[in-house]
Amino acid sequence: MAVTGARTFKNFIGGEGFDAVSGETFESTSPADGETLGVFPKSGAEDVDRAVAVAKQAFEEWRLVPAPRRGEVLFRFAQLMTEHKAELTELMTHEMGKVKAEAGGDVQEAIDMSYYMAGEGRRLWGQTTPSELRDKFNMSVRMPIGVVGVITPWNFPIAIPSWKIAPALVCGNTIVFKPATDTPLLGEKFVELLVEAGVPAGVVNVVHGGGGAVGDRMVRHPDVPVITLTGSRDTGVQVMRNAAECLKHIHLELGGKNAIIVLDDADLDLAVDGILWSAFGTSGQRCTAASRVIVQDGAYDALASRLVSAAEQLRLGVGWDDDTDVGPVINEGALEKIHSYTQIGIDEGAKLLTGGEVASGNGLDKGFYYRPTLFGDVDPQMRIAQEEIFGPTTALIRVKDFDEAVRVSNGIRYGLSSSIFTRDVNKAFRAMRDLVAGITYVNAGTIGAEVHLPFGGTKDTGNGHREAGQAALDVFTEWKSIYVDYSGKLQKAQIDTAT
Ligand code: UN1
Repeated sequence: MAVTGARTFKNFIGGEGFDAVSGETFESTSPADGETLGVFPKSGAEDVDRAVAVAKQAFEEWRLVPAPRRGEVLFRFAQLMTEHKAELTELMTHEMGKVKAEAGGDVQEAIDMSYYMAGEGRRLWGQTTPSELRDKFNMSVRMPIGVVGVITPWNFPIAIPSWKIAPALVCGNTIVFKPATDTPLLGEKFVELLVEAGVPAGVVNVVHGGGGAVGDRMVRHPDVPVITLTGSRDTGVQVMRNAAECLKHIHLELGGKNAIIVLDDADLDLAVDGILWSAFGTSGQRCTAASRVIVQDGAYDALASRLVSAAEQLRLGVGWDDDTDVGPVINEGALEKIHSYTQIGIDEGAKLLTGGEVASGNGLDKGFYYRPTLFGDVDPQMRIAQEEIFGPTTALIRVKDFDEAVRVSNGIRYGLSSSIFTRDVNKAFRAMRDLVAGITYVNAGTIGAEVHLPFGGTKDTGNGHREAGQAALDVFTEWKSIYVDYSGKLQKAQIDTAT
């Protein structure tokens, strides 16, 4: 692809633009049609070091800005994103590939998160509590931590940076941000708007480049006490290991192998809609995507045939076209990985019901398109029912009753999202209790989390932290307990007994 016309971008450090010290660059190209969208610095350790030093210095001033004022910057940021929503949405259909409605949702999620965290500027609640001694006052407050290393994926190129950067900023931290190499231009636009909203120089810095060079340096850097990563399980394990020497705060949001349970008594029309949306929306490239459908025997045949015909009607194409239901997958490597799982499924003895091939013709050869793929007769232990494929492939698993459905749903290493379609309120409540996952939906698919509730998962999906909602504040603050003794004398806790 020719790079003529594509703009060249720089790292953004301390309010100024810098090329990578090495002078190397990489391109961002559209998965929809191969267009080159920009040229970016391929940074290394020295670039990270420069950004960290600036962010560390900026922290000393930003932490003293009153939290409500920090919140006002986020409020303006939300307003600016609202004004630029159409343009960001359009760009996302080109750079990341998702369809227009979903790209708009991605931007909206960032707007919602920024408003929510703007409000946090006037809360950031701690606790006050009585002292066991007379004339003594006790409280706990949230303190910012310092420089936060933000490593984000390409699948939610505007929303996920906001989940991390908005709470980190309102809490008083400064940022070194490494956008995904597949979506650097959206990362760039995100930060441009933050700067326009009034984020002071040095508070948010961008270093473009790969995980191995840029991400790893952030993870090992002694002056970056917090790392927040959304990525694969393997990367999460490496990050935790490499950060161990510095005992960092690590927040990990990793994979999923989410299931929708459909019981015999479910509204099948609703279930079909929920499954299509959750399995094939964003071409299955969500951590929350439904890549398993666990169906009770009595509903299995009807559901399978309806799903097949509905899946076959989905229109593939470029995301900016109004008629498109399913856009491309992110790159050639992803396309190959997704297709390799089709072969794995066939070799394991699963029945390919529809899809299973790279889509071509009608201009699709210019991008990376994969047909929505359904496997039937899948055994819960097959690799296609256990491993994260991150594409438009889902596996139908037949079960005899509710208990088996829950057992199968839980029988994976991950624990992000889960779902049940049933009209039986007793079973719905048992599912809410027994599904081992960070999120459970009742009569809805596995996707569609809202920003004011905790987002994250159990088991190998993460390390116990949550993004979004109040829970996000725990990632970006340290608790400090404060004791103020106004008795004028030395009082000893646990030893003096005040009456
Ligand atoms: C992700 O795939 O990493 O609930 C995030 C959802 C979206 C967020 C998904 N609101 O599907």
